[in-house]
Amino acid sequence: MLDTIPNNVNLSDNPKLQRALQRWQPDFLNWWKEMGPEGFQEDQIYLRTAVGVGAGNWAQFDYVKMPDYRWGIFLSNPRKQDSIYFGDNIGQNLWDQVPGEFRKELRRLIVTQGDTEPASVEQQRRLGKKAPSLQDLRNLFQVNVEEARHLWAMVYLLHSHFGADGRDEAEEMLERRSGNADHPRILKAFNKPMDDWLSFFCFTMFTDRDGKYQLATLAESAFDPLARSTRFMLMEEAFHLSVGESGISRVLQRTAEVMNEGKDPRSVGAIPLDMVQRYINYWSSASYDLFGGEDSSNAATYFAAGLKGRFNEGDGKRFNEHSALNEVYETEVYDNGRLTSQEIPMRRAMNACLLDDYIDDANRSVERWNAVLEEHGLSERVALPSKRFNREVGLYANLPVNPAGEFIGEAAYASQRDAWLPSEDDRAYIDSVMVPVYEPGKVAGWIAPPKKGIHGQPLDFQYVLFH
Ligand SMILES: [Fe+2]
Ligand SMILES: [Fe+2]
Repeated sequence: MLDTIPNNVNLSDNPKLQRALQRWQPDFLNWWKEMGPEGFQEDQIYLRTAVGVGAGNWAQFDYVKMPDYRWGIFLSNPRKQDSIYFGDNIGQNLWDQVPGEFRKELRRLIVTQGDTEPASVEQQRRLGKKAPSLQDLRNLFQVNVEEARHLWAMVYLLHSHFGADGRDEAEEMLERRSGNADHPRILKAFNKPMDDWLSFFCFTMFTDRDGKYQLATLAESAFDPLARSTRFMLMEEAFHLSVGESGISRVLQRTAEVMNEGKDPRSVGAIPLDMVQRYINYWSSASYDLFGGEDSSNAATYFAAGLKGRFNEGDGKRFNEHSALNEVYETEVYDNGRLTSQEIPMRRAMNACLLDDYIDDANRSVERWNAVLEEHGLSERVALPSKRFNREVGLYANLPVNPAGEFIGEAAYASQRDAWLPSEDDRAYIDSVMVPVYEPGKVAGWIAPPKKGIHGQPLDFQYVLFH
């Protein structure tokens, strides 16, 4: 069965790794059948499968039953650098093996990243039953199988570089469960329920985008197999983000069309703009928390050691100075409800810098969303909430701050909370419009059709062949 695993890691020449994966693979498949997409395991899905790392031809598209998907293991081509280019060890050789002194930290980084991959599959497992179109259904499954491949990518590193500990961690990846009170997934956003497609689009827009930024920091790592695994994962991740951005864009387009006809979106099963904004507020702020504390000694350690770099650390354009030793990060904190400035030594502020990069990136999508509203002649706009809003982690955790980032006090916050975050009423309404549409080329009433098909196929292509 291992013969079918596409790979460029010489799997056939590595009997030890083969044995480890041979033991893990049946457990993985059991997990997939139990916790993967509910109700569609026997259907043929038109999916992309990664088959190599060459630019332009790294993937194939064809029908496949999801349990037969060929989850492969790939490292991207070598980087242009062969020595460490940031932190305290600049100039030393990149590592092919895990150095003993950083074994614990690397294991933790790989396990934390790896755990998010099956977690999101679990969160999304019931969405197929409410897909707004056949193409969206296919896109959901594409995201799901690729998240599972990302799990394979991290499990490969655990099996090949961490011995018995790595094998134990690989098993535990299949044992934790999203949202389970006794045995949850590691990060909070990956334990939140996701049973509607507005949440799915927000998740792929905001939470997968956190994934992109975390992967990008690991893609700079001195531990070369980790850097090259995550570089390849980023190629797949780009599609997940596009599902999120285009999904929200289509929701806004549909709502704008309805409003242009002078109708209340609720009266025709479309989604009011203020409701979309509340879902944006909820999922973006939950995703901000994934970056961790703004002032973090772990972040400083990871950077100093060369485990995690900054976004585009090694592209030769963004940074001239790679020690980050003599700089400070300036930010603002609330002191008794008043904003005051604070300086954090740059290495300790790596999470804060990465969150800023992320927000800039997400804002480019928000601008494209607002262009859709503008094209339809509407004056309303959507926006990202302040990074101080609705936080549970870091400098702004648990503060009564509005989406504009202003400290407003507990009473004002409590009275306006339902204007800013999804209410029970919102969730009930969203749930009520989530009806499945499986007829090729047709789409549910709360969302505009996709702009184009997948891999050059027409919009009415039969993306899923039901058994
Ligand atoms: Fe992923
Ligand atoms: Fe993803």
